[in-house]
Amino acid sequence: MTRRTFHFFSATLAFVLALTIAVASADGPHGLAPVRAAVAADLQPGPLQAQDQPAAQAGYVGADTCLGCHDDKASMGAHGRVVDPRTPMANQGCETCHGPGQAHVDGLGDTALIRNPAKMAPSEVSETCTSCHNRGEHALWEGSQHEGRDVTCSACHSVHSPQSETMQLVASDVRGVCATCHRDKIAKLDRSGHMPVREGKMECTTCHNPHGSTNVRLLRQGDSIGEMCASCHADKRGPFLWEHPPSRDGCTTCHDPHGSSNERMLVSRSPIICQRCHVQTRHPSTIYDAGAIGTSARVYARSCVTCHASIHGSNHPSGQRFLR
Ligand code: HEC
Ligand code: HEC
Ligand code: HEC
Ligand code: HEC
Ligand code: HEC
Ligand code: HEC
Ligand code: HEC
Ligand code: HEC
Ligand code: HEC
Ligand code: HEC
Repeated sequence: MTRRTFHFFSATLAFVLALTIAVASADGPHGLAPVRAAVAADLQPGPLQAQDQPAAQAGYVGADTCLGCHDDKASMGAHGRVVDPRTPMANQGCETCHGPGQAHVDGLGDTALIRNPAKMAPSEVSETCTSCHNRGEHALWEGSQHEGRDVTCSACHSVHSPQSETMQLVASDVRGVCATCHRDKIAKLDRSGHMPVREGKMECTTCHNPHGSTNVRLLRQGDSIGEMCASCHADKRGPFLWEHPPSRDGCTTCHDPHGSSNERMLVSRSPIICQRCHVQTRHPSTIYDAGAIGTSARVYARSCVTCHASIHGSNHPSGQRFLR
């Protein structure tokens, strides 16, 4: 076995192993493994094939020349794997992203004569990256909320100086990336009612695809907020024999998905949460009604849901009051 084929096989083996481990360790629908596994399938081959002899093309000098002056850029992570024909380094090298560099080299490093993504228009950076990353996870980038607001790839990723171990992020983890612009959402994670995001069992990207989606709010799953929630909380999904209308309208009428200061991430405390809609019921619904105070399980314990336990909907023949 030549050295080259040995490297190829060990790289392939490592990749397959990594995939297997990732898939095996996925904890049901909360795992990120499906996302990671999709990476391989999401890629377009590079703009040029390896046999095109990149360095021979007019205006291109090849990576070795660039590295002669920029040796600090030698480590390229996933992009540097020359054995993988889809990577930039297996194609035009540095110039896959920076464009032909002959003029820059002849000009002894004239910065005006080379493309630097850090100084380029957001749309130009996106174009450079989506020449390869344009499938699967990335297919909906065009027209996405981030793209539309000029948030480009390099706002969240750094090719040369990533702070994370994987995914080449500008911060050490996903939350750190989102925090630069969505601090309010990160702050909510510290509240008492929340999903296990701060415990690291979920990420912002478990629910959102920052690269675009067909759902509202960059949500990964389904065509509505309710469908997205039901992708994990299937027991809350209708149709129920007895529907509670707000549950069908979407879970965020009552829950804040990012966290709240109330139990169960409710947007307000019980019974107030119910009283926003149920002012008049045959039994007193407000704590101010005569007879309510003192006797009232309506205020104490789990308040209204002490009795109306099937609050999301009921399949019991006599469940129309969501008591069972
Ligand atoms: C003869 C040495 C030399 C070679 C060869 C060279 N560069 Fe440079 N490059 C420089 C110098 C000097 C600078 C300016 C450095 C600085 O400002 O820190 C520079 C700056 C850059 C910049 C930043 C431009 C900016 O706007 O700030 C990029 C990107 C770059 N080079 C890419 C490349 C690429 C890609 C290649 C290979 C095609 C390459 N360089 C080859 C010397 C070189
Ligand atoms: C996958 C695309 C890509 C490839 C391949 C690539 N670069 Fe870059 N380069 C970038 C981006 C994006 C930036 C802006 C800063 C960042 O994201 O890290 C950049 C910035 C730079 C800069 C200037 C920024 C600084 O550090 O001051 C230099 C110099 C540079 N690259 C040199 C190189 C060299 C040399 C190679 C080849 C070994 C190379 N690049 C390959 C995408 C690429
Ligand atoms: C020539 C094609 C090509 C271009 C252009 C390109 N990439 Fe990649 N990129 C790849 C390949 C191939 C991989 C490795 C995928 C794999 O491991 O299956 C990759 C991996 C990545 C990863 C995942 C890294 C990891 O640790 O797994 C990120 C993030 C990424 N690219 C971002 C970018 C950004 C940002 C740009 C533009 C500045 C860019 N890419 C330009 C081909 C490209
Ligand atoms: C708003 C932040 C943000 C923007 C903008 C962004 N990304 Fe990402 N990207 C992420 C995060 C966070 C991850 C890690 C996803 C995860 O852990 O599930 C990621 C993952 C990736 C991956 C590896 C996973 C995969 O499925 O392919 C690639 C490649 C990638 N991004 C490329 C790009 C490209 C290309 C662009 C620009 C067109 C871009 N990203 C724009 C935040 C962003
Ligand atoms: C560089 C700043 C920046 C970063 C980093 C960033 N975003 Fe955004 N995000 C924006 C902007 C700007 C908007 C558009 C806001 C608007 O239109 O009101 C937006 C919108 C959104 C939206 C709402 C889309 C909608 O329909 O209203 C979601 C969800 C989102 N971002 C999630 C994320 C996640 C998750 C991350 C981390 C992976 C992230 N963002 C990182 C700037 C950023
Ligand atoms: C459990 C799923 C879930 C997780 C985890 C999650 N989000 Fe959201 N996010 C949603 C839903 C659902 C909405 C839509 C809320 C609405 O429109 O009422 C949303 C809306 C948003 C919006 C846009 C709407 C607004 O209120 O401005 C941003 C920005 C956002 N999320 C960022 C984040 C960030 C950052 C994280 C990580 C800290 C995160 N999300 C984690 C489900 C989630
Ligand atoms: C990726 C899977 C996933 C998605 C999508 C998801 N959740 Fe969760 N949710 C969880 C997990 C895991 C827990 C923690 C369960 C536990 O501790 O038993 C949880 C817990 C909860 C709790 C209880 C919180 C507490 O303080 O006890 C509520 C309420 C909730 N989710 C509502 C929602 C809503 C509303 C949505 C849609 C915006 C949603 N979830 C989307 C996985 C998910
Ligand atoms: C009318 C308000 C309302 C709506 C709408 C609503 N919920 Fe709830 N939800 C509650 C209340 C109140 C509790 C607390 C129940 C308790 O303490 O027993 C709760 C508890 C939960 C819990 C944690 C306890 C459990 O039963 O597992 C989850 C998960 C949950 N809701 C998910 C959802 C999902 C998913 C949706 C959308 C399909 C949704 N909720 C819509 C009011 C609502
Ligand atoms: C966003 C408004 C809204 C919120 C918040 C809300 N509900 Fe409802 N609820 C409705 C609507 C609309 C109906 C259907 C009324 C009808 O059919 O006459 C309903 C029906 C009911 C019924 C059955 C009533 C009947 O006449 O059959 C009960 C019981 C009930 N809700 C309890 C609660 C409880 C307890 C809470 C708090 C956890 C709550 N609701 C929160 C809108 C709401
Ligand atoms: C001690 C148990 C209990 C508590 C606590 C309770 N309910 Fe009820 N509720 C019932 C029963 C039993 C019925 C069915 C009455 C009937 O069918 O005649 C009912 C019926 C209802 C109805 C439908 C009938 C009507 O009067 O319109 C609504 C709406 C309702 N409750 C809302 C609430 C709200 C809101 C709260 C909290 C403020 C609450 N309930 C607290 C036991 C309770």
